[in-house]
Amino acid sequence: MKVRDRINEYTQDPLIGRMWHAIRSAGPMRSISVDITHRCNLRCKGCYFFAEEMDQETEADRETLDRFIEEQVRRGITFATVIGGEPSLVPDRLRALAEKFRLMIVTNGLKKVPREGLEDVALAVSVWGDAENDRGMRGYGRIDVFQRALSNFRNDDRVIWYVTLPSDPLPQTAEVVDACIDNGNMVSFNYYGDVSTLGGKHDHRNGFAGARRFVAEMIDRHPNGIAFNSYLNEVISGGVMKGQRWGYDVCGSVSVDHPGNRARISSGQSYNPHFNAYGPGLTSTRRCCVGDERDCATCFDVWAHVSWIALGLERHLDSREDFFEWLSTMYIFYGACRMVDRVQLRESLPLIHQRSSILAGEAALFRH
Ligand SMILES: C[S@@+](CC[C@H](N)C(=O)[O-])C[C@H]1O[C@@H](n2cnc3c(N)ncnc32)[C@H](O)[C@@H]1O
Ligand code: SF4
Ligand code: SF4
Repeated sequence: MKVRDRINEYTQDPLIGRMWHAIRSAGPMRSISVDITHRCNLRCKGCYFFAEEMDQETEADRETLDRFIEEQVRRGITFATVIGGEPSLVPDRLRALAEKFRLMIVTNGLKKVPREGLEDVALAVSVWGDAENDRGMRGYGRIDVFQRALSNFRNDDRVIWYVTLPSDPLPQTAEVVDACIDNGNMVSFNYYGDVSTLGGKHDHRNGFAGARRFVAEMIDRHPNGIAFNSYLNEVISGGVMKGQRWGYDVCGSVSVDHPGNRARISSGQSYNPHFNAYGPGLTSTRRCCVGDERDCATCFDVWAHVSWIALGLERHLDSREDFFEWLSTMYIFYGACRMVDRVQLRESLPLIHQRSSILAGEAALFRH
């Protein structure tokens, strides 16, 4: 059966049909990643940006930024993930990008991101594990970054928190998730990559069981507030997707224009034909969204895994259940990026979680 026929068959199902329609109506997502500045108001332990000294490339002047934007429009780009450095330090640059692209701005939350000119962006506010861990690893043991971020983004409908998890989250991490939900925001997860070889709970090669149980518990507790699904969790933590093993040769977040990726791009494995990750100077690309030299074995980056799944549509067409897991991952990702309506996302999330057979297994495990 052809791909189109299969999809037509599966989309007869009302929930699948609704998610498919929402994604199709959102239009193409041709994305890049942009370090909008090299500066940051924190120095988190094990931040991949500073570990690879990416801040040595300083931020472009305004003229270069304007030329960069024009060039990306010509390339057909529709979406940019804005990182750095700390994007909230350069609101005017964010506005310039927002005039031409849909944006996901990733921020540590210490500083407000103004609404004016940035009403429609998605904000990904990061917090690292439980509050004490966050204070120790991100706030030099002194600054309560998390509390400041909660107050900066109370009831801000642009926000999804990215709770970055160690391999075995402490029970207090649930208090962080609860506080984000009570703050009127949604929550997603990311996994710490042990760039600075801190070891122990920071190294996910020591096991994922605790983190998986934790995520299942949070989905069970906040079914319409968690923009993350158990299929994505299974793929990240297992490192396998439909018989394919995770790594550089399948990763969807590699820059097409980076000379070091030529062999990867011509290898015959799928890749994103528009994706480039730009450093702060905006004139050169780096290998991938998280660096030039990063060991792929320690990379559990959530967005890189989502792009791997996105490239694997045809691997998920053998059954309606497989297609459902693929589509719900894409739908939640589009919702997180505000490419589909967040109100509809919130309404659909409990139904998505209810139907996921993976979550059913994990929730049972965690109740025992
Ligand atoms: C380099 S930061 C730049 C944006 C902003 N300064 C912030 O911290 O959100 C981009 C994202 O990478 C995450 N990050 C940095 N180092 C990481 C690591 N070693 N493992 C997992 N995530 C990491 C941050 O939490 C953030 O979500
Ligand atoms: S706030 Fe972001 S860019 Fe700055 S050190 Fe922390 S993770 Fe890195
Ligand atoms: S470090 Fe991660 S995002 Fe970068 S190429 Fe390796 S697997 Fe992909």
